Amino acid sequence: MKPQTKHIVLLPGDGIGPEVVAQARIVLETTAQVFGYSLSFEQALIGHAAIEATGDPLPPDTLAACRRADAILLGAVGHPQYDRNPSTPIRPEQGLLRLRQNLHLFANIRPIRIFDELLDASSLKPEILQGTNILFFRELTGGIYFGQPKGRDKARNRAWDTMTYSRQEIQRIARMAFEAARQRRRIVHSIDKANVLESSRLWRETVTTESKNYPDVQLHHMYVDNAAMQLIRAPRQFDVVVTSNLFGDILTDEAAQLTGSLGMLPSASTGAQIGLFEPVHGSAPDLAGTDKANPLAAILSAALMLEHAFGWHEAAHAIWNSVSHLLAEGWRTPDLAQPHTPAAKVVGTQQIGKLVASFVPMVALSSPAP
Ligand code: IPM
Ligand code: MG
Repeated sequence: MKPQTKHIVLLPGDGIGPEVVAQARIVLETTAQVFGYSLSFEQALIGHAAIEATGDPLPPDTLAACRRADAILLGAVGHPQYDRNPSTPIRPEQGLLRLRQNLHLFANIRPIRIFDELLDASSLKPEILQGTNILFFRELTGGIYFGQPKGRDKARNRAWDTMTYSRQEIQRIARMAFEAARQRRRIVHSIDKANVLESSRLWRETVTTESKNYPDVQLHHMYVDNAAMQLIRAPRQFDVVVTSNLFGDILTDEAAQLTGSLGMLPSASTGAQIGLFEPVHGSAPDLAGTDKANPLAAILSAALMLEHAFGWHEAAHAIWNSVSHLLAEGWRTPDLAQPHTPAAKVVGTQQIGKLVASFVPMVALSSPAP
């Protein structure tokens, strides 16, 4: 029987995006072949690359292609040109934010898993880190990112953003977090700033009400400032974390550093039919074109795609296990290298992609789920 083809739209975007997406594609192609699946690919513009070509960070053709896709893999958006002039009305990031909004991707899932091989690459002590395994649920289409009004007055001496949440927006992300906790250690930390913010008080109240449907899951509320501290003090206390758009943005960059490098952190944005998978890192313009970027976050995002979008669990596990194997053999991109890493094992973006792909057939035969 001919396997059903899954159609993937690639949005390489800016900076190191195209380089890391290219490696993720190689790994996807090999994995599909090994497991007898069929994939097709199409590429579209987003971010600065799209602004340069069309004047729009999310051109209509890109949105149309994404709507036809079974899943989307994004590299990164952003360009230093806009940071030099932060008030430019059109910015690359708008492409990604509009895409999330248009596709109703309200849940951003960011798994923080520490590979034992990288324990010494983190800035934290190994004994604090070992065994850390956190699943973040970041609300992605509400909060201060999208709340109205937002603006700036004519004289440019005042600007404002609005942090707003509805009960329904909080409920649906909370449910996902509680459901996920049931497959794990059954602990949910809900992060807010309810001692100060009204929107956080609604957040806390709604999550508490929702928790009544999950009596088997322990719920803890934590203020975001404390959570920022607890994450590096005792990260093992966390199992599932659910939080708002802005707090989730900040806390997941912090949590990424637990894994040794922002270059290790994948993410899945879901909610409606079509999922968007993307590394958490940005466009890293200083690394673009140098073959030094770490493609593992993009490669692991591809694994999340196979798992969440297609339900190809074994294929997804094979990618995670290939990455473990790569690290166990000592291969490192420069961001993961330590003073004692042999120079010969510090390799570039393309070599890492090739190696991960080459291990897939082997681990596919042998490995249990991670
Ligand atoms: C992220 C990024 C984005 C965000 C930017 C690029 C708009 O930082 O996905 O974490 O703030 O959501
Ligand atoms: Mg971010």
